[in-house]
Amino acid sequence: MKSYDERIKWYKEARFGMFIHWGVYAVPARGEWVRSDERLSIQDYQPYVDAFHPERFDAAEMARLAKHAGMEYAVMTAKHHDGYCMYDSALTDYSSMHDCGYDFIREFIEAFRKEGLKVGLYYSLLDWHHPDYPHYGDRHHPERDNPEYQDYRYDFSRYLEYMHGQIKELCSNYGKIDLLWTDFSYDEMRADTWHGEELVRMIRSLQPDIILNNRMEASGEGFGSLIEERPEITSGDFVTPEQIIPPNGIRNYQGDPVMWEACVTMNNHWGYCRDDHYYKPACMIIQKLVECVSKGGNLLLNISPDEEGALPEEQISILKEIGDWMSVNRESIHSCGYSGIEKPEYGRITRNGNRIYYHVFENQFGGIPLPGIRKEQIASIRMLCGNPVRISDSWITSNYPELVFADTREDPVLPDQTDTVIEVVLKEE
Ligand code: GLC
Repeated sequence: MKSYDERIKWYKEARFGMFIHWGVYAVPARGEWVRSDERLSIQDYQPYVDAFHPERFDAAEMARLAKHAGMEYAVMTAKHHDGYCMYDSALTDYSSMHDCGYDFIREFIEAFRKEGLKVGLYYSLLDWHHPDYPHYGDRHHPERDNPEYQDYRYDFSRYLEYMHGQIKELCSNYGKIDLLWTDFSYDEMRADTWHGEELVRMIRSLQPDIILNNRMEASGEGFGSLIEERPEITSGDFVTPEQIIPPNGIRNYQGDPVMWEACVTMNNHWGYCRDDHYYKPACMIIQKLVECVSKGGNLLLNISPDEEGALPEEQISILKEIGDWMSVNRESIHSCGYSGIEKPEYGRITRNGNRIYYHVFENQFGGIPLPGIRKEQIASIRMLCGNPVRISDSWITSNYPELVFADTREDPVLPDQTDTVIEVVLKEE
Protein backbone atom coordinates (compact mmCIF):
# COMPACT_ATOMS: atom_id res chain seq x y z
CA MET A 1 0.00 0.00 0.00
CA LYS A 2 1.24 3.45 -0.94
CA SER A 3 2.09 5.98 1.74
CA TYR A 4 0.08 9.18 2.04
CA ASP A 5 2.87 11.15 0.34
CA GLU A 6 2.98 8.77 -2.60
CA ARG A 7 -0.79 8.72 -3.00
CA ILE A 8 -1.26 12.46 -2.77
CA LYS A 9 1.64 13.32 -5.11
CA TRP A 10 -0.26 13.66 -8.42
CA TYR A 11 -2.99 15.63 -6.71
CA LYS A 12 -0.58 18.05 -5.08
CA GLU A 13 1.15 18.64 -8.40
CA ALA A 14 -2.11 19.03 -10.33
CA ARG A 15 -3.19 22.25 -8.58
CA PHE A 16 -6.15 22.91 -10.85
CA GLY A 17 -9.27 20.83 -11.42
CA MET A 18 -12.79 21.03 -12.81
CA PHE A 19 -15.90 20.45 -10.71
CA ILE A 20 -19.01 19.45 -12.67
CA HIS A 21 -22.38 19.87 -10.99
CA TRP A 22 -25.03 18.37 -13.16
CA GLY A 23 -28.31 16.64 -12.50
CA VAL A 24 -32.10 16.98 -12.75
CA TYR A 25 -31.86 20.32 -10.93
CA ALA A 26 -30.60 21.79 -14.22
CA VAL A 27 -34.22 21.63 -15.42
CA PRO A 28 -35.80 24.03 -12.89
CA ALA A 29 -32.47 25.89 -13.26
CA ARG A 30 -32.46 27.49 -9.83
CA GLY A 31 -29.45 25.68 -8.38
CA GLU A 32 -28.99 22.21 -6.91
CA TRP A 33 -30.63 23.08 -3.58
CA VAL A 34 -33.96 23.92 -5.22
CA ARG A 35 -35.84 21.08 -3.49
CA SER A 36 -34.66 22.17 -0.07
CA ASP A 37 -34.90 25.91 -0.70
CA GLU A 38 -38.45 25.72 -2.02
CA ARG A 39 -39.64 22.78 0.13
CA LEU A 40 -40.46 20.75 -2.98
CA SER A 41 -41.84 17.29 -2.32
CA ILE A 42 -40.76 14.31 -4.40
CA GLN A 43 -44.00 14.72 -6.37
CA ASP A 44 -43.37 18.44 -6.93
CA TYR A 45 -39.96 17.56 -8.32
CA GLN A 46 -41.14 14.72 -10.55
CA PRO A 47 -42.09 16.91 -13.55
CA TYR A 48 -38.44 18.01 -13.73
CA VAL A 49 -37.31 14.39 -13.57
CA ASP A 50 -39.74 13.58 -16.39
CA ALA A 51 -38.46 16.49 -18.45
CA PHE A 52 -34.81 15.52 -18.05
CA HIS A 53 -33.82 14.06 -21.42
CA PRO A 54 -30.52 15.76 -22.14
CA GLU A 55 -29.21 15.29 -25.64
CA ARG A 56 -26.32 17.73 -25.66
CA PHE A 57 -24.02 16.46 -22.91
CA ASP A 58 -20.66 16.25 -24.63
CA ALA A 59 -18.14 14.83 -22.18
CA ALA A 60 -15.39 14.82 -24.81
CA GLU A 61 -15.82 18.55 -25.41
CA MET A 62 -15.77 19.24 -21.68
CA ALA A 63 -12.63 17.18 -21.30
CA ARG A 64 -10.97 19.17 -24.10
CA LEU A 65 -11.97 22.44 -22.45
CA ALA A 66 -10.62 21.25 -19.11
CA LYS A 67 -7.38 20.13 -20.68
CA HIS A 68 -6.95 23.42 -22.55
CA ALA A 69 -7.65 25.31 -19.32
CA GLY A 70 -4.69 23.49 -17.77
CA MET A 71 -6.81 21.43 -15.43
CA GLU A 72 -5.39 18.06 -14.50
CA TYR A 73 -8.39 16.42 -12.87
CA ALA A 74 -12.15 16.66 -12.73
CA VAL A 75 -14.85 15.71 -10.26
CA MET A 76 -18.44 15.10 -11.36
CA THR A 77 -21.63 14.65 -9.36
CA ALA A 78 -22.69 11.00 -9.45
CA LYS A 79 -25.51 11.76 -7.01
CA HIS A 80 -26.39 15.08 -5.41
CA HIS A 81 -28.62 15.77 -2.39
CA ASP A 82 -31.77 15.25 -4.50
CA GLY A 83 -30.78 11.57 -4.71
CA TYR A 84 -30.98 11.39 -8.50
CA CYS A 85 -28.21 9.17 -9.88
CA MET A 86 -26.32 10.14 -13.01
CA TYR A 87 -25.06 6.60 -13.43
CA ASP A 88 -26.27 3.03 -13.68
CA SER A 89 -27.17 1.90 -10.18
CA ALA A 90 -28.65 -1.51 -9.53
CA LEU A 91 -30.00 -0.18 -6.25
CA THR A 92 -32.47 2.38 -7.59
CA ASP A 93 -34.51 3.33 -10.64
CA TYR A 94 -34.09 6.98 -9.77
CA SER A 95 -31.36 7.44 -12.33
CA SER A 96 -30.50 8.79 -15.76
CA MET A 97 -29.74 5.26 -16.87
CA HIS A 98 -33.24 4.09 -16.01
CA ASP A 99 -35.02 7.19 -17.31
CA CYS A 100 -33.14 7.97 -20.50
CA GLY A 101 -30.63 5.21 -21.02
CA TYR A 102 -27.53 7.28 -20.31
CA ASP A 103 -24.80 6.51 -17.82
CA PHE A 104 -23.33 10.00 -17.76
CA ILE A 105 -20.69 9.06 -15.20
CA ARG A 106 -19.32 6.43 -17.55
CA GLU A 107 -19.24 8.98 -20.38
CA PHE A 108 -17.48 11.47 -18.12
CA ILE A 109 -14.88 8.98 -16.93
CA GLU A 110 -14.08 7.66 -20.39
CA ALA A 111 -13.80 11.10 -21.99
CA PHE A 112 -11.64 12.65 -19.28
CA ARG A 113 -9.37 9.61 -19.08
CA LYS A 114 -8.88 9.86 -22.81
CA GLU A 115 -7.56 13.41 -22.42
CA GLY A 116 -5.17 12.16 -19.75
CA LEU A 117 -6.97 13.78 -16.84
CA LYS A 118 -7.55 12.16 -13.47
CA VAL A 119 -11.15 11.47 -12.57
CA GLY A 120 -13.07 11.99 -9.38
CA LEU A 121 -16.66 11.44 -8.32
CA TYR A 122 -18.83 13.56 -6.07
CA TYR A 123 -21.31 11.59 -4.00
CA SER A 124 -23.85 13.17 -1.65
CA LEU A 125 -24.14 11.52 1.74
CA LEU A 126 -27.47 13.32 2.09
CA ASP A 127 -30.38 11.92 0.12
CA TRP A 128 -33.73 13.71 -0.08
CA HIS A 129 -35.29 10.98 -2.17
CA HIS A 130 -34.56 7.92 -0.08
CA PRO A 131 -37.46 7.00 2.25
CA ASP A 132 -35.08 6.09 5.07
CA TYR A 133 -33.20 9.37 5.22
CA PRO A 134 -34.35 11.57 8.14
CA HIS A 135 -37.12 13.93 7.02
CA TYR A 136 -38.88 15.95 9.70
CA GLY A 137 -36.59 17.97 11.94
CA ASP A 138 -33.53 17.47 9.75
CA ARG A 139 -31.71 20.72 9.06
CA HIS A 140 -31.90 20.51 5.27
CA HIS A 141 -34.52 18.02 4.12
CA PRO A 142 -37.31 19.47 1.93
CA GLU A 143 -39.90 17.96 4.35
CA ARG A 144 -38.08 19.21 7.45
CA ASP A 145 -41.02 21.27 8.72
CA ASN A 146 -43.90 19.47 7.08
CA PRO A 147 -46.14 18.26 9.96
CA GLU A 148 -47.24 15.30 7.86
CA TYR A 149 -43.80 13.83 8.43
CA GLN A 150 -43.72 14.42 12.15
CA ASP A 151 -44.48 10.81 13.00
CA TYR A 152 -42.90 9.41 9.87
CA ARG A 153 -41.00 6.22 10.58
CA TYR A 154 -37.82 5.47 8.82
CA ASP A 155 -35.06 2.93 9.22
CA PHE A 156 -31.71 4.64 8.85
CA SER A 157 -29.86 1.33 8.66
CA ARG A 158 -31.60 0.69 5.36
CA TYR A 159 -30.35 4.02 4.07
CA LEU A 160 -26.82 3.17 5.19
CA GLU A 161 -26.97 -0.11 3.36
CA TYR A 162 -28.13 1.71 0.23
CA MET A 163 -25.54 4.47 0.47
CA HIS A 164 -22.65 2.09 1.18
CA GLY A 165 -23.91 -0.09 -1.65
CA GLN A 166 -23.91 2.80 -4.10
CA ILE A 167 -20.42 3.88 -3.19
CA LYS A 168 -19.36 0.28 -3.64
CA GLU A 169 -20.88 0.30 -7.13
CA LEU A 170 -19.01 3.48 -8.03
CA CYS A 171 -15.75 2.03 -6.72
CA SER A 172 -16.27 -1.30 -8.52
CA ASN A 173 -17.84 -0.67 -11.91
CA TYR A 174 -15.80 2.13 -13.48
CA GLY A 175 -12.19 1.02 -13.27
CA LYS A 176 -9.79 3.24 -11.44
CA ILE A 177 -11.32 6.21 -9.61
CA ASP A 178 -8.67 8.72 -8.58
CA LEU A 179 -10.70 10.72 -6.11
CA LEU A 180 -13.95 10.51 -4.17
CA TRP A 181 -15.60 13.69 -2.97
CA THR A 182 -18.28 12.81 -0.42
CA ASP A 183 -20.55 15.64 0.73
CA PHE A 184 -21.21 16.43 3.66
CA SER A 185 -21.55 16.19 7.45
CA TYR A 186 -23.68 18.38 9.72
CA ASP A 187 -25.39 18.27 13.12
CA GLU A 188 -25.83 14.61 14.09
CA MET A 189 -24.98 13.45 10.60
CA ARG A 190 -21.28 12.79 11.01
CA ALA A 191 -18.64 10.14 10.44
CA ASP A 192 -20.10 7.76 13.04
CA THR A 193 -23.62 8.20 11.71
CA TRP A 194 -22.46 7.33 8.20
CA HIS A 195 -20.53 4.31 9.57
CA GLY A 196 -17.62 6.16 8.11
CA GLU A 197 -14.86 3.87 9.24
CA GLU A 198 -16.43 0.88 7.57
CA LEU A 199 -17.09 2.98 4.49
CA VAL A 200 -13.50 4.22 4.21
CA ARG A 201 -12.11 0.70 4.67
CA MET A 202 -14.38 -0.56 1.92
CA ILE A 203 -13.46 2.30 -0.43
CA ARG A 204 -9.74 1.88 0.15
CA SER A 205 -9.92 -1.89 -0.29
CA LEU A 206 -11.54 -1.43 -3.71
CA GLN A 207 -9.49 1.60 -4.75
CA PRO A 208 -6.22 1.51 -2.82
CA ASP A 209 -4.76 4.70 -4.35
CA ILE A 210 -7.91 6.81 -4.09
CA ILE A 211 -7.81 10.29 -2.59
CA LEU A 212 -10.66 11.23 -0.25
CA ASN A 213 -11.89 14.63 0.86
CA ASN A 214 -12.62 15.44 4.50
CA ARG A 215 -16.39 15.82 4.38
CA MET A 216 -17.29 12.45 5.75
CA GLU A 217 -16.53 14.04 9.08
CA ALA A 218 -16.50 17.74 8.30
CA SER A 219 -18.27 20.27 6.15
CA GLY A 220 -17.08 23.45 4.47
CA GLU A 221 -17.34 25.00 7.92
CA GLY A 222 -14.86 22.76 9.71
CA PHE A 223 -11.56 21.18 8.82
CA GLY A 224 -12.06 17.83 10.58
CA SER A 225 -9.43 15.68 12.23
CA LEU A 226 -6.90 15.91 9.40
CA ILE A 227 -5.44 18.97 11.10
CA GLU A 228 -5.46 17.37 14.55
CA GLU A 229 -2.81 15.40 16.35
CA ARG A 230 -4.56 12.10 15.76
CA PRO A 231 -6.47 12.08 12.50
CA GLU A 232 -9.28 9.55 12.32
CA ILE A 233 -9.54 7.03 9.53
CA THR A 234 -12.39 9.19 8.23
CA SER A 235 -10.35 12.42 8.15
CA GLY A 236 -9.72 12.14 4.41
CA ASP A 237 -6.64 13.34 2.58
CA PHE A 238 -7.41 17.02 2.06
CA VAL A 239 -9.44 19.88 3.47
CA THR A 240 -12.21 21.53 1.43
CA PRO A 241 -12.70 25.26 1.99
CA GLU A 242 -15.73 26.33 -0.04
CA GLN A 243 -16.14 29.63 -1.92
CA ILE A 244 -13.12 31.08 -0.12
CA ILE A 245 -9.35 30.89 -0.21
CA PRO A 246 -8.00 30.34 3.29
CA PRO A 247 -6.28 33.59 4.32
CA ASN A 248 -3.09 31.84 5.45
CA GLY A 249 -3.28 28.46 3.77
CA ILE A 250 -4.11 25.58 6.10
CA ARG A 251 -1.81 24.12 8.71
CA ASN A 252 -2.19 21.33 11.22
CA TYR A 253 -1.83 21.47 15.00
CA GLN A 254 1.97 21.51 14.59
CA GLY A 255 2.00 24.28 12.03
CA ASP A 256 2.83 22.00 9.10
CA PRO A 257 1.05 22.65 5.82
CA VAL A 258 -1.98 20.44 5.17
CA MET A 259 -3.27 19.69 1.68
CA TRP A 260 -6.39 21.68 0.78
CA GLU A 261 -8.55 22.41 -2.20
CA ALA A 262 -10.74 25.48 -2.54
CA CYS A 263 -13.91 24.68 -4.46
CA VAL A 264 -15.39 27.71 -6.14
CA THR A 265 -18.24 28.50 -8.52
CA MET A 266 -17.82 30.73 -11.58
CA ASN A 267 -21.07 32.54 -10.76
CA ASN A 268 -22.94 31.96 -7.49
CA HIS A 269 -24.43 28.51 -8.00
CA TRP A 270 -23.07 24.99 -8.32
CA GLY A 271 -25.97 23.60 -10.31
CA TYR A 272 -27.16 25.38 -13.45
CA CYS A 273 -29.01 28.60 -12.62
CA ARG A 274 -30.59 30.34 -15.56
CA ASP A 275 -30.71 33.83 -14.04
CA ASP A 276 -27.32 33.88 -12.37
CA HIS A 277 -25.01 35.86 -14.64
CA TYR A 278 -22.76 37.16 -11.89
CA TYR A 279 -19.63 35.65 -13.34
CA LYS A 280 -16.15 36.19 -12.00
CA PRO A 281 -13.93 37.30 -14.86
CA ALA A 282 -11.20 34.96 -16.11
CA CYS A 283 -8.45 37.38 -15.06
CA MET A 284 -9.69 37.20 -11.48
CA ILE A 285 -9.87 33.41 -11.51
CA ILE A 286 -6.30 33.22 -12.85
CA GLN A 287 -5.00 35.44 -10.04
CA LYS A 288 -6.95 33.39 -7.49
CA LEU A 289 -5.53 30.15 -8.87
CA VAL A 290 -2.07 31.64 -8.38
CA GLU A 291 -3.06 32.61 -4.83
CA CYS A 292 -4.13 29.02 -4.08
CA VAL A 293 -0.86 27.60 -5.39
CA SER A 294 1.23 30.16 -3.50
CA LYS A 295 -0.54 28.99 -0.33
CA GLY A 296 -0.03 25.31 -1.02
CA GLY A 297 -3.57 24.56 -2.20
CA ASN A 298 -5.56 23.45 -5.24
CA LEU A 299 -8.43 25.18 -6.99
CA LEU A 300 -11.47 23.16 -8.07
CA LEU A 301 -13.45 25.40 -10.42
CA ASN A 302 -17.07 24.53 -11.07
CA ILE A 303 -19.02 24.34 -14.31
CA SER A 304 -22.75 23.74 -14.56
CA PRO A 305 -24.19 22.22 -17.73
CA ASP A 306 -27.81 23.19 -18.47
CA GLU A 307 -30.87 20.95 -18.76
CA GLU A 308 -29.71 19.78 -22.20
CA GLY A 309 -26.22 19.08 -20.92
CA ALA A 310 -24.75 22.06 -22.78
CA LEU A 311 -22.36 24.46 -21.12
CA PRO A 312 -23.41 28.11 -20.83
CA GLU A 313 -21.46 30.35 -23.21
CA GLU A 314 -20.02 32.43 -20.36
CA GLN A 315 -18.46 29.32 -18.83
CA ILE A 316 -16.92 28.23 -22.09
CA SER A 317 -15.31 31.59 -22.70
CA ILE A 318 -13.97 31.80 -19.14
CA LEU A 319 -12.37 28.37 -19.54
CA LYS A 320 -10.87 29.34 -22.87
CA GLU A 321 -9.41 32.55 -21.51
CA ILE A 322 -7.88 30.74 -18.56
CA GLY A 323 -6.51 28.22 -21.05
CA ASP A 324 -4.83 30.93 -23.10
CA TRP A 325 -2.97 32.12 -20.04
CA MET A 326 -2.18 28.59 -18.91
CA SER A 327 -0.75 27.57 -22.26
CA VAL A 328 1.98 30.16 -21.68
CA ASN A 329 2.35 29.94 -17.91
CA ARG A 330 1.46 26.43 -16.78
CA GLU A 331 4.88 25.62 -15.34
CA SER A 332 4.34 28.35 -12.74
CA ILE A 333 1.26 26.43 -11.54
CA HIS A 334 1.80 22.70 -11.96
CA SER A 335 4.07 21.05 -9.42
CA CYS A 336 4.45 24.43 -7.71
CA GLY A 337 3.61 25.43 -4.17
CA TYR A 338 4.72 27.59 -1.25
CA SER A 339 7.82 29.60 -2.07
CA GLY A 340 8.88 30.35 1.47
CA ILE A 341 9.31 33.99 0.41
CA GLU A 342 7.05 36.73 1.68
CA LYS A 343 4.37 37.87 -0.75
CA PRO A 344 5.41 40.97 -2.71
CA GLU A 345 3.03 43.92 -2.99
CA TYR A 346 2.49 43.51 -6.74
CA GLY A 347 1.43 39.86 -6.75
CA ARG A 348 2.48 36.43 -5.55
CA ILE A 349 5.27 33.89 -5.71
CA THR A 350 5.08 30.17 -6.49
CA ARG A 351 7.97 27.74 -6.53
CA ASN A 352 9.01 24.37 -7.83
CA GLY A 353 12.38 23.40 -6.35
CA ASN A 354 15.02 25.77 -7.67
CA ARG A 355 12.54 27.49 -9.99
CA ILE A 356 10.88 30.55 -8.53
CA TYR A 357 7.93 32.19 -10.27
CA TYR A 358 7.19 35.85 -9.61
CA HIS A 359 3.58 36.54 -10.61
CA VAL A 360 3.36 40.24 -11.40
CA PHE A 361 -0.21 41.55 -11.35
CA GLU A 362 0.68 45.28 -11.37
CA ASN A 363 2.84 47.50 -13.53
CA GLN A 364 5.85 48.89 -11.69
CA PHE A 365 7.89 52.07 -12.04
CA GLY A 366 11.53 51.44 -12.95
CA GLY A 367 11.96 47.88 -11.71
CA ILE A 368 10.17 44.86 -10.32
CA PRO A 369 11.65 43.75 -7.00
CA LEU A 370 12.37 39.99 -6.86
CA PRO A 371 12.63 39.26 -3.16
CA GLY A 372 14.18 36.16 -1.63
CA ILE A 373 17.18 35.79 -3.96
CA ARG A 374 20.68 37.18 -4.50
CA LYS A 375 22.11 38.09 -7.90
CA GLU A 376 24.87 35.47 -7.66
CA GLN A 377 22.29 32.70 -7.20
CA ILE A 378 20.58 33.29 -10.53
CA ALA A 379 21.28 30.72 -13.23
CA SER A 380 18.73 32.18 -15.64
CA ILE A 381 15.84 34.59 -15.72
CA ARG A 382 13.05 35.13 -18.26
CA MET A 383 9.38 35.88 -18.63
CA LEU A 384 7.37 32.76 -19.41
CA CYS A 385 5.75 34.69 -22.27
CA GLY A 386 9.19 34.81 -23.90
CA ASN A 387 10.23 38.40 -23.25
CA PRO A 388 13.78 38.84 -22.01
CA VAL A 389 14.35 40.20 -18.52
CA ARG A 390 17.27 42.42 -17.65
CA ILE A 391 18.50 42.63 -14.10
CA SER A 392 18.65 46.25 -13.09
CA ASP A 393 22.04 47.84 -12.42
CA SER A 394 20.64 51.33 -12.60
CA TRP A 395 21.07 54.07 -9.97
CA ILE A 396 17.29 53.92 -9.49
CA THR A 397 17.46 50.68 -7.56
CA SER A 398 20.89 51.23 -6.03
CA ASN A 399 19.44 52.28 -2.71
CA TYR A 400 18.20 48.71 -2.23
CA PRO A 401 21.38 46.68 -2.61
CA GLU A 402 19.86 43.68 -0.82
CA LEU A 403 17.16 43.31 -3.50
CA VAL A 404 17.31 42.07 -7.09
CA PHE A 405 15.18 44.07 -9.55
CA ALA A 406 13.97 43.29 -13.04
CA ASP A 407 14.50 46.47 -15.07
CA THR A 408 11.27 47.76 -16.63
CA ARG A 409 12.39 51.11 -17.99
CA GLU A 410 12.15 49.96 -21.59
CA ASP A 411 8.97 47.93 -21.01
CA PRO A 412 6.92 49.94 -18.54
CA VAL A 413 3.77 48.02 -19.36
CA LEU A 414 3.61 44.33 -18.48
CA PRO A 415 3.06 42.11 -21.51
CA ASP A 416 0.23 40.35 -19.65
CA GLN A 417 -1.90 42.67 -17.54
CA THR A 418 -3.52 39.75 -15.70
CA ASP A 419 -0.33 38.11 -14.57
CA THR A 420 3.11 38.33 -16.17
CA VAL A 421 5.26 35.55 -14.81
CA ILE A 422 9.00 35.99 -14.30
CA GLU A 423 10.85 32.73 -13.87
CA VAL A 424 14.11 32.68 -11.98
CA VAL A 425 16.12 29.46 -12.04
CA LEU A 426 18.56 29.28 -9.17
CA LYS A 427 21.98 27.68 -9.51
CA GLU A 428 22.17 24.26 -7.91
CA GLU A 429 23.82 24.75 -4.52
C1 GLC B 1 -22.06 22.04 -0.54
C2 GLC B 1 -23.41 22.03 -1.11
C3 GLC B 1 -23.42 21.68 -2.48
C4 GLC B 1 -22.23 21.69 -3.31
C5 GLC B 1 -20.97 21.49 -2.57
C6 GLC B 1 -19.75 21.87 -3.32
O1 GLC B 1 -21.92 21.74 0.72
O2 GLC B 1 -24.33 21.34 -0.36
O3 GLC B 1 -24.58 21.92 -3.12
O4 GLC B 1 -22.30 20.58 -4.11
O5 GLC B 1 -20.96 21.80 -1.28
O6 GLC B 1 -18.68 22.10 -2.53
